[in-house]
Amino acid sequence: MIDAVVTVPGVTVSDVPARMFGSFVEHMGRCVYTGIFEPGHATANAEGFRGDVLDLVRELGVSVVRYPGGNFVSGYRWEDGIGPVEERPRRLETAWHEIEPNIVGLHEFVTWAEQAGVEIMEAVNLGTRGVEDAMRLVEYSNHPSGTALSDARRRNGAEEPFGIRLWCLGNEMDGPWQLGAKSAEEYGALARETAKGMRAVDPSIELVLAGSSGTDMPTYGEWERTVLRHAYAHVDYLSLHLYVQERQDPSAFLASALRLEQAIRDVSTIIDEVRAEGQHSHQVALAIDEWNVWNQDRFNDPEHQREVQHGPWLEHPEVIEDVYTLTDAVVVGTFLHTMLRNADRVRIANLAQLVNVIAPIMTAEGGDAWRQATFWPFARIASHARGNVLETHVDAPEIAGAPAVDAVVTHEDDRGEWCVFLANRALEDSASVTITLPRADLAAREAEVLTSAEGRLAVNTHESPGTVAMQELPVASGDGVLEVTLPPVSWAWLRVGVPST
Ligand code: AHR
Repeated sequence: MIDAVVTVPGVTVSDVPARMFGSFVEHMGRCVYTGIFEPGHATANAEGFRGDVLDLVRELGVSVVRYPGGNFVSGYRWEDGIGPVEERPRRLETAWHEIEPNIVGLHEFVTWAEQAGVEIMEAVNLGTRGVEDAMRLVEYSNHPSGTALSDARRRNGAEEPFGIRLWCLGNEMDGPWQLGAKSAEEYGALARETAKGMRAVDPSIELVLAGSSGTDMPTYGEWERTVLRHAYAHVDYLSLHLYVQERQDPSAFLASALRLEQAIRDVSTIIDEVRAEGQHSHQVALAIDEWNVWNQDRFNDPEHQREVQHGPWLEHPEVIEDVYTLTDAVVVGTFLHTMLRNADRVRIANLAQLVNVIAPIMTAEGGDAWRQATFWPFARIASHARGNVLETHVDAPEIAGAPAVDAVVTHEDDRGEWCVFLANRALEDSASVTITLPRADLAAREAEVLTSAEGRLAVNTHESPGTVAMQELPVASGDGVLEVTLPPVSWAWLRVGVPST
């Protein structure tokens, strides 16, 4: 048994940013077609969106959804996705070697986002396109009326502007795999000019500059410095992408939020240096706009790549439909803890992706939708982390350089409620966790743990969707202290408040 002590002195780190609970819908594999959109499905609504998926998206608590890519956006012509559906072109989609039918485009996605209750984070193509097309897309989306583009939107059925506030300046432009990949100098200059043009059309928009596509990129760090030197004055956020996976050492994998913690520190330092150099008054924040567990070794295997890139051109083939274990879910939980602890820096984050493609929600075409193991920590944190993030100290032994028990606490004044989010990273040992909050008269209102009788490699599937699920967690309380016991490799949360008299 591991002993851990969690202490919360009552110091606020930051408010909880609503956009931290974002996700990502890319035209890739079965994320859109047979994911969010399947007109023939038994639960489909009038617009062809799956009702069962919409319900799960709402339950997941997603606040903002990045769209339409990803690598896809770097070859995308947004005009292909507007106007009468029967007149839209079918295109070769070269990022993922698929056929894109363009049945879902901008208008359809806006409708879906309204139904799901999420904000849109729209990416522009800076791979094969540039300043003019990005400006045209902003005008089409956000200008009220009286110009060719805004009137075209109205003719296409949207009288009111879409009012899209949040925009990404391209995607992973540092990646050699990216269509139209650029050097940092080239991208920095293009992003700056595109930002100026887009803002000239709609000054109210917020812009995300593309940072590195991973901390293992050879240009990581230098890329951030260079692109910020070009574009700092014109942007609000700098993005970072981070995917992790389990290799030989499960303990090292369970500690992989350390990489995120380090990256947040490193990139924040660079932002501050460039801000000081340029004497900029505003603070650029971080947008971790793609993060998740993704078994990239399997995807990058040369044999698999040959099959994908030289196989037949298909519509919505199965692509990277990773099946997530309980261990993966614990890592997802600790990533969210890490971002919350750094919420003064990280203001946007997007779990990549939302449905079927490395996703918390899975669907069978014509069949059910179910929750992957990773759904649970995201859903609980997104629904309950409100108010402020509090400084949280953990005293626990280390495993692979990280504390065996990871914790973060949020506090919402209005409801007089504290939420404690916990993870036990130990492979074999349970953890006895003692929690001291800033008030002595508190008691648990609700407590759950994510675990499985089948152990750390348990997964949820179509046939058995409930193998990894939340279970009630017993809490002992007394003398202002709460005590819980976490099973090995588990994630848990407690909702705590003043007991009603
Ligand atoms: O999320 C899958 C892919 O990962 C995205 O298209 C790309 O941006 C990243 O490399």
